[in-house]
Amino acid sequence: MLIRRSRAGLLVIAIALLHIVLFSLWTYNPDSTIRDIITTNLSGLKQTFLKQHDRTDFSVFNAKLYAKFQKVYLSRPVEEIDDDQRKLQLYQLDMTNDEKFNSFVLPPQLAEPDELAIPELLHFDPRFTFGILLNYVSKRIELGHFASKDDMILPFFHWADYVDTSILQQHLLSHKKTGCEFFDHTTASPTKNTRLELFDPALFCVDDQNIDTMIEELDRVIATNLATPETIDIRKNLEILKRNKYSTGFHIFGNPGRSAKVKRVLEAKSYLNDFMPPPLSINMLLPNHQNIHIKVNQDVSMAKRRMKDCRLLNDYVSDYRSEHTIELQVSTDIVVNVKDEITRLAENLNRDSALVIPPANLSYFRHMDHLQFIDKSEEYVNEIQSKLDGGQSISFTEFRYLESLKVSMSTFSPPKYFSEAKIVQKESSWELGGHYDWRFFNGIINYTDSQPPVLFGLLRAWLRFTNANNFSTWIAHGSLLSWYWNGMAFPWDNDIDVQMPVDELHRMARSFNQSIIVDFGDDATSQEIRYGRYFLDVGTFITQRMSGNGYNNIDARFIDIDTGLYIDITGLALTPTRSPDRYNDLLSPEWTRDRSKTELERNEFLKVYNCRNNHFSLLDELSPLKMSIVEGQVTYVPNGFEQLLVNEYHEAGLSSYSYKGYEYIPQLRQWMKIRDLNNFIKEHHMEAGKDSKGKPLPVVFSDEDFIKLIFEHSYSLFEYLVSNNVTEFHESEIIQLIETDQASEFFFDQDGNFDFTPFLIRHDYFTYLAQKSKYDYGATFKKTLEQIDEFEKVNEKLQLTRTSQGPLKTASP
Ligand SMILES: *[C@@H]1O[C@H](CO)[C@@H](O)[C@H](O)[C@H]1NC(C)=O
Ligand SMILES: *[C@@H]1O[C@H](CO)[C@@H](O)[C@H](O)[C@H]1NC(C)=O
Ligand SMILES: *[C@@H]1O[C@H](CO)[C@@H](O)[C@H](O)[C@H]1NC(C)=O
Ligand SMILES: *[C@@H]1O[C@H](CO)[C@@H](O)[C@H](O)[C@H]1NC(C)=O
Ligand SMILES: *[C@@H]1O[C@H](CO)[C@@H](O)[C@H](O)[C@H]1NC(C)=O
Ligand SMILES: *[C@@H]1O[C@H](CO)[C@@H](O)[C@H](O)[C@H]1NC(C)=O
Repeated sequence: MLIRRSRAGLLVIAIALLHIVLFSLWTYNPDSTIRDIITTNLSGLKQTFLKQHDRTDFSVFNAKLYAKFQKVYLSRPVEEIDDDQRKLQLYQLDMTNDEKFNSFVLPPQLAEPDELAIPELLHFDPRFTFGILLNYVSKRIELGHFASKDDMILPFFHWADYVDTSILQQHLLSHKKTGCEFFDHTTASPTKNTRLELFDPALFCVDDQNIDTMIEELDRVIATNLATPETIDIRKNLEILKRNKYSTGFHIFGNPGRSAKVKRVLEAKSYLNDFMPPPLSINMLLPNHQNIHIKVNQDVSMAKRRMKDCRLLNDYVSDYRSEHTIELQVSTDIVVNVKDEITRLAENLNRDSALVIPPANLSYFRHMDHLQFIDKSEEYVNEIQSKLDGGQSISFTEFRYLESLKVSMSTFSPPKYFSEAKIVQKESSWELGGHYDWRFFNGIINYTDSQPPVLFGLLRAWLRFTNANNFSTWIAHGSLLSWYWNGMAFPWDNDIDVQMPVDELHRMARSFNQSIIVDFGDDATSQEIRYGRYFLDVGTFITQRMSGNGYNNIDARFIDIDTGLYIDITGLALTPTRSPDRYNDLLSPEWTRDRSKTELERNEFLKVYNCRNNHFSLLDELSPLKMSIVEGQVTYVPNGFEQLLVNEYHEAGLSSYSYKGYEYIPQLRQWMKIRDLNNFIKEHHMEAGKDSKGKPLPVVFSDEDFIKLIFEHSYSLFEYLVSNNVTEFHESEIIQLIETDQASEFFFDQDGNFDFTPFLIRHDYFTYLAQKSKYDYGATFKKTLEQIDEFEKVNEKLQLTRTSQGPLKTASP
């Protein structure tokens, strides 16, 4: 049985790889090729790893490569290089902390206590946001002790401090306002509109002129006592919009459906700025395994203020003045320094341990048990309800969780919970919009230099978050397959898949649903500080464990709020869904697939669990999870990862979208574009001719050929330079794992102490973009001021003409 399964899995991998082989006329020296993998079985893939064992030491190859790199790229100091592209490439290799980038001087308009000087609009910079926020948290700790880690509440929150919404500025400062009809993609055919999700703008957008009407309508609903808290918050947000000095003209209050790419970005930012509910909490992952949890004030009327407009900035400035009297004698600059704020907070947290969530001690094996895969929704509803009824206090997050479970349990055919940034089908690569959460969509970044840092940041933050909070979770599907190859993500992957037992999913929803998670990095002194911000969203219908109508295959998402790219999180549970026949061998005679037992009983006997997309795994295939690394970060992989891969890639699908024009090169432990390989072989006349049957003969590559190859394709060279330590580690680790079933010495010293430092292979996304665009806080601040001035000047003139001509009409561009 096992062999038959392996063959089936192999067949799919073979099909998947077939088109690669057809187009490539070459092979590797000495003998580990894709063709080996295809002509043997899945353990051929294993053989590939094992064969690497006997190959010459990587250090010989690396020495040659680095010598050439030195000569070609580093013969001149970086400062003297005037080629921006090359500078940026070299910057990719430098992960040390850039002291200059940790801090900036507050412009005088923000440093004055005079509130009138503060500009109406301010661009987004996470260093501003977190500099002020971390300082606030430190001062709260210094002023008084906290009895528990849940005691801290952030009084103010505005999404524009956490996400770049500056694209709205051109509309805020425009004299011709764009109205909601700009977002109308509907056609004359109602069926087409429904099928393609082309919505009437009235369903998701309100114009300035209609705000009052909408408030009146909402008031009627509110008067009937039928209003949900969401309705009440929409009304509060409408009031805020009326008070704002500048308006975009359009205000998106719900998912706008399929739209053009450019409009999708505007819609997302408008929603974030105008209506998106605040997160329930902010979780900060600080260096040295410190980790804190801050609740966010949920009263929109009180809390929705940008940092510049509330006392957080005021307090920062006045405290800075009293704390830095000596420095201020030399220079009047008021400085925000994120590194100093991280250090200060770390010291405070060391003193006030009530706030610190103790780090979970990671172990090499993580055992899971059957009970974790049983959905205990009812039990949890009863537990929290009786707390409530008994007059005990529960947290707001817990209350919301309770409400969601009740809704879920009483909904028969649940609607789709998550919405992606669907793009109108006449635009190029429209289908990729499905890989982005609509609320945070900022344009399609697949295959651009943005994608690797974003995916790395996502994965890193997710793993840090789950490890810090001791969640059992593992990488799955495409992410597990790509890990298997080289410990990295596939270059063509847009998303990351992880799984967890359903009970862990509940635990996560109960404490962290609707949280922002911030990853500041592992070490703020020697490494680059990170500013990654992520939003954890757990769907409402997690009590329903069957596929149902198929709308909710994904249980939760961990979303990068800069781009909308996400990690798909699915829970596995024991359900009455029929498990696949591949498990028949495990059924003893009394459990065979006749009618004397229910599927649920049979699955319970098998200890087999499924997600809502009907992927099944046995407890033994999953547990114990084993520690490993992916993209250089600590993760867990399932016990029987090879079997799971064989099971899964038996399903069609892999062949249709994977391996897109890439071939895996064992020597470099990376994927390379086949086009580039073929061109290289042609250009260097390396074709080895054909055999008697007309089949191309293998082309032999020496070390020098490989080096020549990647120097001609710098994407590949730099990918090698950033990732070769990780892929080397992975290869040694997986060989050990395959041979002896565990590789704990890669992570723990002889005394059993955890001894592993994650590899930092990609820049923080914000920092990378800042470097690339030569961003400067002061200059950008000034530009915004100038734009406001410009607008005001024209506005004054218009006001004059307007008084003589009547009000200006809304026009759409
Ligand atoms: C699978 O491959 C391994 C190693 O190449 C070999 O030992 C084994 O016999 C193969 N099994 C089958 C069924 O071909
Ligand atoms: C982790 O290990 C350390 C040292 O072995 C111990 O002091 C600490 O209590 C452990 N933490 C937890 C949460 O178990
Ligand atoms: C972490 O989870 C594991 C496995 O569920 C459990 O054995 C361990 O006690 C937990 N550690 C902490 C500190 O909660
Ligand atoms: C995204 O990928 C598609 C291929 O799937 C490609 O045609 C398109 O140019 C890519 N877009 C960007 C912005 O890289
Ligand atoms: C998570 O929060 C959202 C927003 O409040 C809510 O709709 C959803 O039901 C929650 N999920 C769970 C499992 O509590
Ligand atoms: C990779 O390892 C080498 C030493 O083996 C070290 O010099 C280099 O800095 C490492 N590179 C990265 C990106 O960690």
